[in-house]
Parts: sequence; C-alpha cells; structure tokens
Amino acid sequence: MSTVVEPVAQVSEHAPAKLILVGEHAVVYGEPAVALPFPPLVARATALPIEVGVRIRSDRYPELVADLGQSLPEALRPVAAAVQGALDAIARTGKTPLAFELHLTSQIPPGSGLGSSAAVAVAAIRATFALHGSSVMPALLRMLATQAEAVAHGNSSGLDPATVASDGPIRFVRDHAPVPLRVGAPFGLVVADSGQSAPTLEMVARVRAQREADPAAAEALTNLGALSDSVVERLEAGDYAEVGTLLDQAQTYLADLGLSTERLDAVVAAARRAGAYGAKLSGAGGGGCAIALCPIDRLSEVAHAMVAAGAVTAWPTQYVVESESTHEPHRGA
Ligand code: MEV
Repeated sequence: MSTVVEPVAQVSEHAPAKLILVGEHAVVYGEPAVALPFPPLVARATALPIEVGVRIRSDRYPELVADLGQSLPEALRPVAAAVQGALDAIARTGKTPLAFELHLTSQIPPGSGLGSSAAVAVAAIRATFALHGSSVMPALLRMLATQAEAVAHGNSSGLDPATVASDGPIRFVRDHAPVPLRVGAPFGLVVADSGQSAPTLEMVARVRAQREADPAAAEALTNLGALSDSVVERLEAGDYAEVGTLLDQAQTYLADLGLSTERLDAVVAAARRAGAYGAKLSGAGGGGCAIALCPIDRLSEVAHAMVAAGAVTAWPTQYVVESESTHEPHRGA
C-alpha cells in the first residue's frame, strides 16, 4: 500500500568535485585507485514541488528541459537516469513519488577531470530523496549515481560517484565499497585547470582500444594500479615527499598512454620546479586538470607557477584532516 508524503516547500542538496590522486583508467580494469572529494567546487540540486510531472533544468543548458517519461534531451539524460532511479527506489519503499522540478547549478567545469557529471548525479539523487522526506543510504547512492555515469560515460568504474559521495580520501576498487583513508597530516594540493577539455567517454574508449592492441599499454595500466597501494601507505604515514614521487611515476605512465597534453606537461613541470613534491594530470586526461602535491608553505608559489605555465585557473587547497579546506582561486589570463 502506498503512503502519501507531505511535500516540503523546497530542498537543496549538493556534492563536491573530485580529484583522482592515482589509478585513473586502471580502475576501470579492477585495479585500485585513490581519490578525494574537492569541496571548493560543488554541484547543487534544488527540488521544488509542482502540480504534475517531474522536470529537470540545468543552468548549464538554459534552453533545455527534461520531462521524465516524456522528452529527454541528450545532455540531461544522465541526470534524468539518476532521478528516475531515485524515484523508483522511493516508490519501492511504498511512498508515492511527488511532482517536482529539479534545478541544477554547478561550479565544476565539465570535461575537466573533476567529476562534474557524478557530482550533479549525486546532488540530484540526494535532493530527490530529501524532497520525499528521507535520505539515501550510501550504497544505494553510489549504485544510482554509477548507473547515471554509465549513461554519461559508457563503462564507468564507479570511482567518481564513490568519491563525490564520500567525506574524505578513499581507496576504491570497482564493485567494492570504498575504504576511507586516514590522512597522516595536513597537506597542500594545487588543482590547476588546463582549460582544455576532453570527453571522458572518448578517453576511456581510447585507452580500452590501446589496452587490447598493445601489451605495453596493458602493462602501464597494471603499473598504475600498483602505485595506488604505495600511495595509500605513504599518505597514511604522512610521507608526502614519497607520495609526490609516486604521483610523478603515475604521470609518466599516463603520458605513455597518450593521456597528457603539451600544456599539461608544462603545467606539471612548472609545479615541480616551484617546489611541489610531485604532480600529474587527474581524471580521464586529454586535457582537464593537473594536481600538484606540495608543502603547505609552497601552495601559493606552486599555484602561480602552474598558471604562468598555461593553466587558466588554479585552486591552492590546504587539506586538513576532518575539517574544512581553505581555497583562494588564482586566475590566469
Ligand atoms: C574518470 O574520472 C576516471 C576514469 O578512470 C573512468 C572511470 O573510472 O570510470 C578515467
């Protein structure tokens, strides 16, 4: 028997961007990866009750509207899948799904390796549940967001949804619950956007084709995965100089796979020269963001160096265990 939920006036939920420290692409093939949420940038979903139907609008595509069960513009299909999945799960608990409109806004640049689509999906699922007076269990949230990611990116490992749904750094293996990591001490991380973007779907397909055709590519992916467990160990020990060396090695494997660009190479090299422990691209590659792990007192120099080398924006961030991160964006020309 269905129960009727008293609608609340309006609810708003959010989810942060994500950074992959190590293991991108390798994680698609069952290797471990290490990633962490990036709270300075968030996606937000606001749900407002309406008379009939379920509509989705996004600031990113002001001309588009998705009407669930009726018309679904291509660009809104992944988030529509997330909302539909949430509504089906809510209906299975005996609640009557409400009519509402979902407004999406996001500070996360798309195609930049920061998990934009996963953050939008997680925010949308949380808002859908919140409007119905409940919160979503972590495993269900990850499952629904991973299904939405499959619509956005084809064969998604689930790493991005697991990371944006987590409170801190995680070790992640496909089809397993993420394991939260205990970070030894505060550390500095600069995230720098190359201003170039590449669709994750294409980069994942490209790496898959390489892996099938070339044993050296398959080996690079295995080696990338092997670095993840060393990163976990050194990160938990607070040995950031060694983590930096491991990130540099990861960058070499990613570049061998053809995932870096001239600009990312320059930005990463500039970060190292400015005193970073190590630096690499982060995410699917072909453009997007680079990250640099650095001593907290070098954050500003490293951020400026990355912008001088071609990044359009850099976010120097101090990661403090179990407290808010600080951030001051530096913008390029
Ligand atoms: C994309 O952020 C990470 C990739 O490993 C793809 C995935 O894990 O689904 C490239």
